[in-house]
Amino acid sequence: QKETVPVPRPELFDFHGVSMVHSMTDNWDNVQNFQAKPDDILIATYPKAGTTWVSHMLDLLYFGKSSPKRGVSLPIYERVPFLEICIPFLPTGVESADKMTTSPRLIKTHLPVQFVPKSFWEQKCRIVYVARNAKDNVVSYFHFDRMNSAQPEPGDWTSYLQKFQEGKLLFGSWYDHVKGWWEKKQAYPKLLYVHYEDLAEDMDRELDRVCSFLGVCPTEEERCQVKEGVEFDAMKNNRMTNYSTIDVLDFKISPFMRKGKVGDWKNHFTVYQNEQFDKEYKKKMMSTTLWFRNEI
Ligand code: A3P
Repeated sequence: QKETVPVPRPELFDFHGVSMVHSMTDNWDNVQNFQAKPDDILIATYPKAGTTWVSHMLDLLYFGKSSPKRGVSLPIYERVPFLEICIPFLPTGVESADKMTTSPRLIKTHLPVQFVPKSFWEQKCRIVYVARNAKDNVVSYFHFDRMNSAQPEPGDWTSYLQKFQEGKLLFGSWYDHVKGWWEKKQAYPKLLYVHYEDLAEDMDRELDRVCSFLGVCPTEEERCQVKEGVEFDAMKNNRMTNYSTIDVLDFKISPFMRKGKVGDWKNHFTVYQNEQFDKEYKKKMMSTTLWFRNEI
């Protein structure tokens, strides 16, 4: 019988002021020197904000017509490589992106804005940033960290919430991330800032926004295919979007496509936690015009 040796979970360390793990920084020079092409599209998010949702949406928009089988035969992480990832014995995100022959290349990153390789700015690439309200985002991240043994140990919910507020989760502070990208948008017009709650509320409207930003005009039939393909149940049942092909994820603990709802935080926060969270949130978000809806 094959014995499985449990792999220890990675530890976070401070990397230029942001909590990171080695699998996201070991390829740093190659990430920083990544050569973007002008038509590359970067999909940037804080983890668990709807990365997979928007990645699959853009992939279907660009390639759904010419390769109708692509969305059900190639896993999302091959269609949209994860730029900074570097895991032994697997191609790095940079290698995967360099190898891509389709265009435009869709590339995923969780990097805070100050870490984005400079060629994306120089090449004036389009960037879609997806953000999700803090409360649902932290709940989703908690369940993800529980089920993904390649993530740092989450601990219990109360201590996890504390770590979220202190920015001691992989990719650092949610506050710095969403605010940093929001500020960038003011100076860089080729950045579309999308809210998870807006996608959940009205996919038609958001699809219009995305298409007009990208300059693509799908036919009514293509639009319908994209919309059907990105429905929560469709993505949950599609092995190419639900991450069931990845070993380190334990779906018995929690599925990757968990709930897909706005407002699930209400099932996790106690009244006291919610009050404390709101106080802290107010302070941290005082200096910005960015705002979120915690329910729709
Ligand atoms: P929950 O854990 O709240 O269910 P990411 O792709 O950035 O890791 O984000 C994952 C979160 O987005 C999960 O949230 C997942 O269920 C949700 N999600 C993914 N696809 C979705 C879809 N088509 N509709 C709604 N939510 C979706």
